[in-house]
Amino acid sequence: MNNILPATPENIKKAATLIKKGSLVAFPTETVYGLGADALNPSAVVKIFEVKQRPKFNPLIVHVADISLAEKLCVIDKKAKLLMKHFWPGPLTLVLPKKEIVPDIVTAGLLTVAIRMPAHPVALELIKESQTAIAAPSANLSGRISPTTAQEVAEQLDKKVDLILDGGKCPIGIESTVLAISPKPVILRLGGIPVEDIEKVIGKIEISTSKKRPLSPGQLLRHYSPKTPLKIIKDKKDIKIPKNLKAGLLALKPPDDEFKKLFIKIKVLSQTGDLKEAAKNLFSYLNSLDKEGLDIIYAEAPPQVGLGRAILDRLKRAETKNDSI
Ligand code: TXA
Ligand code: MG
Repeated sequence: MNNILPATPENIKKAATLIKKGSLVAFPTETVYGLGADALNPSAVVKIFEVKQRPKFNPLIVHVADISLAEKLCVIDKKAKLLMKHFWPGPLTLVLPKKEIVPDIVTAGLLTVAIRMPAHPVALELIKESQTAIAAPSANLSGRISPTTAQEVAEQLDKKVDLILDGGKCPIGIESTVLAISPKPVILRLGGIPVEDIEKVIGKIEISTSKKRPLSPGQLLRHYSPKTPLKIIKDKKDIKIPKNLKAGLLALKPPDDEFKKLFIKIKVLSQTGDLKEAAKNLFSYLNSLDKEGLDIIYAEAPPQVGLGRAILDRLKRAETKNDSI
């Protein structure tokens, strides 16, 4: 037995009571499941780091259900307000100057706080019922694949979390875009809102997801890693798989018959190659290939437009093996 409960109004109330008491609750958002605690209670927040085995230098995202709560936690300038108007609730996290009230453990001692309003009715209801802001990283063990179903949360965290609210599969499937605003807008993590969409509102923005000179502590970490080695396919013609190796394929769209023969297990992210559908399925399909006892997973690279950039970013992090901290 695990502690998954359907996200009914009663169970959301029960979850809110746990949050108020300083316990941990896993809950669905439109991106991935979050592991939540009362953001204003440092002894609750510290449990998130313990359960996830997350390094304490990696700050958390604070989730709010309305802008007036955000105003209590951070300084919102004109540009931030405009972005909130366009993209909230939704998968855009803004990094803004923090106010005193936000505990240092949440921001890992930084003077900024990452904040977002999730576009998921269960998440919003939980935050409202809890009458506080909820600090929540993705509900996976540090470095592992982010969960997009309640079952995937249970596989990784199980009894370490007091309650898992089941709100079905997350509709976006990939984490929020993280954007710092000042001194100039910089994308710190590619995610659920494509860069092009943000540029339509505030003009050209820099993308800085580099691990060499990280602006966001999370960039340092190896992430989204399946246990099975993963390789991104650059050119299909170059793939040579030794006979004794069991290879799987994470395909963007249905592969042709000749290519199919190379793999013993294939997962197709989208029948039509649609990037939204591919993002939604990415983590679950990667997770299910990871359980097939394969020697290697080959992953097809998506085109570098829209959500394709965020998908490739996650695949690259899954592929990198030797730069963990
Ligand atoms: O979609 C999401 O964002 C999910 C759901 C649950 O909301 N949450 C999530 O949280 O992905 P997490 O902790 O896995 O990723 C947060 C990222 C990390 O890369 C962290 O370093 C960065 O945001 N971050 C948090 N606070 C920051 C800050 N003050 N300055 C720069 N980066 C920050
Ligand atoms: Mg995460």
